[in-house]
Amino acid sequence: ELGFFDGEFIDLNEKKISLEDRGYQFGDGIYEATKVYNGKCFALDRHLDRCIRSLRELKIPVTYTNAELTAIHEDIIKKSGITDGCIYFQITRTTAPRTHYFPDKIVPHLSMTIREGSVHTDWQKSGVHAIFTEDIRWLRCDIKTINLLGNVLAKQEAHEKNCQEAVQVRKGSNLVTEGSSSNFFVVKDDIVWTHPLSNLILKGVTRSILFEECAKKLGITMIEKAFSPDFALTAHEAFITSTSLEVTPVIAIDNKHIGNGLPGKITLKLLNAYHELVK
Ligand code: PDD
Repeated sequence: ELGFFDGEFIDLNEKKISLEDRGYQFGDGIYEATKVYNGKCFALDRHLDRCIRSLRELKIPVTYTNAELTAIHEDIIKKSGITDGCIYFQITRTTAPRTHYFPDKIVPHLSMTIREGSVHTDWQKSGVHAIFTEDIRWLRCDIKTINLLGNVLAKQEAHEKNCQEAVQVRKGSNLVTEGSSSNFFVVKDDIVWTHPLSNLILKGVTRSILFEECAKKLGITMIEKAFSPDFALTAHEAFITSTSLEVTPVIAIDNKHIGNGLPGKITLKLLNAYHELVK
């Protein structure tokens, strides 16, 4: 299987990562996951802009230009022969003897993998079940870091309850933030609600595209305003968005139906508009 590490294409099974990579020891790095449709990486510019922002926020030197990163994506797609799949890449701060503060000499490592596979069209048709869970993550969820333990534990809890996503809720405020690997939306009286951009959620690329392109085109009103789990349960529709799930209806949370328990009308309109963009 094909991978990429620090300037060269490698076999995924080749040992390349140092035991003292700070990504490995501290989770000191950032990542992006993108989707390939018809041999082309969708919305790559938006992902690269977010990647550069994540690096800057973590004070990891930016040693690649957007043009170089784009070329590497194009190369790995071509070399793999994959036309529909997912690309994952991460950049870690450096390799150095373990100390918490940054070492003097920093050479970031870039690694990338590509996998075949398309989206869960079955989930898009039937909708998914979710749970509410406490959002225990740190207070910089706007940075796409490889530290994902809060997200991993939330998703595992959903999985153990035979659900596909965990919708996270901040204690104290009792406000819904986002899914464990997706942004979360509800529709009430034809208005789409989602948590505003802040340190508490990731600025999803799919979320941005819904706002800037799909909802605009359809004349659907979307507002950025936080809401409680109770509000979500009284909504007419709910859905999640991510690069891999696109727009996926949520039909029940904690075993309680949202609306009539079927994928919602506005949700499906947004999904169709999104499909128009990626094809
Ligand atoms: N996750 N919020 C969180 C916490 C996420 O992990 C993701 C994406 C999103 C949606 O972002 P985007 O629309 O840019 O994919 C929101 C990716 C898919 C992952 O971790 O695999």
